[in-house]
Amino acid sequence: MPEEGYTNEPLYRSFLSGEPLTLRKSRLITVSPGEIPRRPRFQGTIDAADLGNPDQLRAVEAINKFYWDSMEQDVFGRTWKISDCENYIAVPDPLLIAEEEDGPDTHGIAGHVALLAEPDFLHIVVFHVWPQWHARGVGWELVYKSIEVARSSNLPSIKLGTTNDNIPALYFYQRMGFVIDNILTGEVEREHGHSPFGFAGIPVRDEIQLRLDLT
Ligand SMILES: CC(C)(COP(=O)(O)OP(=O)(O)OC[C@H]1O[C@@H](n2cnc3c(N)ncnc32)[C@H](O)[C@@H]1OP(=O)(O)O)[C@@H](O)C(=O)NCCC(=O)NCCS
Repeated sequence: MPEEGYTNEPLYRSFLSGEPLTLRKSRLITVSPGEIPRRPRFQGTIDAADLGNPDQLRAVEAINKFYWDSMEQDVFGRTWKISDCENYIAVPDPLLIAEEEDGPDTHGIAGHVALLAEPDFLHIVVFHVWPQWHARGVGWELVYKSIEVARSSNLPSIKLGTTNDNIPALYFYQRMGFVIDNILTGEVEREHGHSPFGFAGIPVRDEIQLRLDLT
């Protein structure tokens, strides 16, 4: 099995100690809700991002470079450009930014979602929250915005693709009401020619497509 993973960057942080964690070092444990250290809730706004604005473009590029090293995403059998999407950024209250813990330069945003309207569903093309802002409700806020966008375009569902190793994302989406819609077995392995290591060192093989029905 090849040794390389998707990235050597710390993408997560420990819920217990706050330690920055790479994908391979990350682990999930089962706990009761009262045992999860609560982090201060995100306060701020979810704003439409204008990629013609150099500051907002830099912010969107930085978070996507950090997670995928790309402004494109391969999913649902084709390549999608973030520049073709409707983009939203989570902008924290300036007072909260001052409290931000050490970590990568977030360029003043907590998270980003890129949306594309398909004829019969809204596609979440990319969805990321900076590690400093994980588990503070930013993900929930970005999904609520996506639901609002889908409803305002009369689209009956939202769909997205993730990978078999991404247990935190599978947990997160299913807690938000998404269901598994389709699994493209071996899709990532075919694209890369091998299975890179993902979360907790799990080989990344399959594309898992999820759907949230809004009707
Ligand atoms: C998945 C992700 C978007 C969640 O965003 P978030 O802002 O941390 O999520 P929220 O704070 O809104 O948390 C919602 C729930 O997810 C849980 N959660 C968030 N991060 C988690 C993690 N690293 N491990 C386990 N659970 C996690 C929270 O505990 C919360 O669950 P609870 O209500 O049961 O306590 C974020 O972790 C992320 O950006 N991950 C890396 C990039 C990625 O994988 N994107 C998705 C690609 S498809």
